[in-house]
Amino acid sequence: MLRTWVTDRFGLELPVVGAPMAGVSDGRLAAAVSAAGGLGMFGVPATAAPSWVAQQAAVAAGGGRPYGIGLMAWALGEGAGLLDAVLDARPSLVSVSYGPFGRYVEPLRQAGIVVAVQAGTTDEARAAEQAGADVVVARGGEGGGHGRAEVATLPLLQSVLDAVSVPVLAAGGIAGARGLAAVLAAGADGAWVGTAFLGCAETTLSDPARERVIGTSETGTAYGRVFDVAQRLDWPPEFGGRALRNAFFDRWDGREEELAADEGAPAELAAARRADDFDTAYVYAGQAVGMVRELRTAAEVVGEFAGAEKLLSRFKS
Ligand SMILES: Cc1cc2nc3c(=O)[nH]c(=O)nc-3n(C[C@H](O)[C@H](O)[C@H](O)COP(=O)(O)O)c2cc1C
Repeated sequence: MLRTWVTDRFGLELPVVGAPMAGVSDGRLAAAVSAAGGLGMFGVPATAAPSWVAQQAAVAAGGGRPYGIGLMAWALGEGAGLLDAVLDARPSLVSVSYGPFGRYVEPLRQAGIVVAVQAGTTDEARAAEQAGADVVVARGGEGGGHGRAEVATLPLLQSVLDAVSVPVLAAGGIAGARGLAAVLAAGADGAWVGTAFLGCAETTLSDPARERVIGTSETGTAYGRVFDVAQRLDWPPEFGGRALRNAFFDRWDGREEELAADEGAPAELAAARRADDFDTAYVYAGQAVGMVRELRTAAEVVGEFAGAEKLLSRFKS
């Protein structure tokens, strides 16, 4: 059995955390990942209401297994509503990333919740440790969804492992046993996995979105701020997003200022989302999308990671 800090701390069968994915992972996916022996998380969208957090937490906790919740620091605002809903739900793990996360760490820890912060640079990892985070996620730029794209997972992971003394999980581009074996061998305590679950029925993706994911190879993603600017979202500019490359992205990439002033773009994007038109609408995904080749259950995806043990045993004399 692969035993690390994360398996021991949460009673997991595998050192795999199902990454929070706002708009894609709700309580159902979190519960399915946890039931399969990983630690499932749901992602809280910027526009979520506290009551939504409570509902999804009840679903995630339904199987009686530990689960986590992912928050975006920039979207928590001045009101304590979302944070209070998370504190009331008492998940085992909360990640708070992307923006000024520092002030949320202590209240969460005082509630007995393990706190993770996703870091895209070594300095950000050090800052997370100094703010009291229990675990740092070294998240490379090949990962899906939002984050920095300055450093890829492997150089970031090596540097972060040298820089901090709290446990480190690796994120960005890890889609199965080989990726898990690689990061465990490097010294990580586990993998934080998002894109690999995008082929699962337990996500909230529509069938056409999932088909698009399954049909895309590892070269089919693009990183930037186009979709955030088009939606007028207040993402801090250093956190762009990696999504499936499409015609809308190509049309506006490099012209974000013009896009910010374009009156028709928000409605065009919203209409495309309603119509499942993914030449315009976004599907956030990382480079590991090339390894999502068929519709699978979350249990199948989690189970595939178990092969890391055999890969690592090759080196035992
Ligand atoms: C569709 C999607 C949505 C995401 N939403 C969030 C989020 O709400 N909060 C968060 O902390 N990270 C979010 N992420 C980033 C993941 O937590 C994680 O860093 C990333 O998926 C890891 O890389 P991978 O996709 O290559 O596995 C999202 C990722 C994806 C693919």
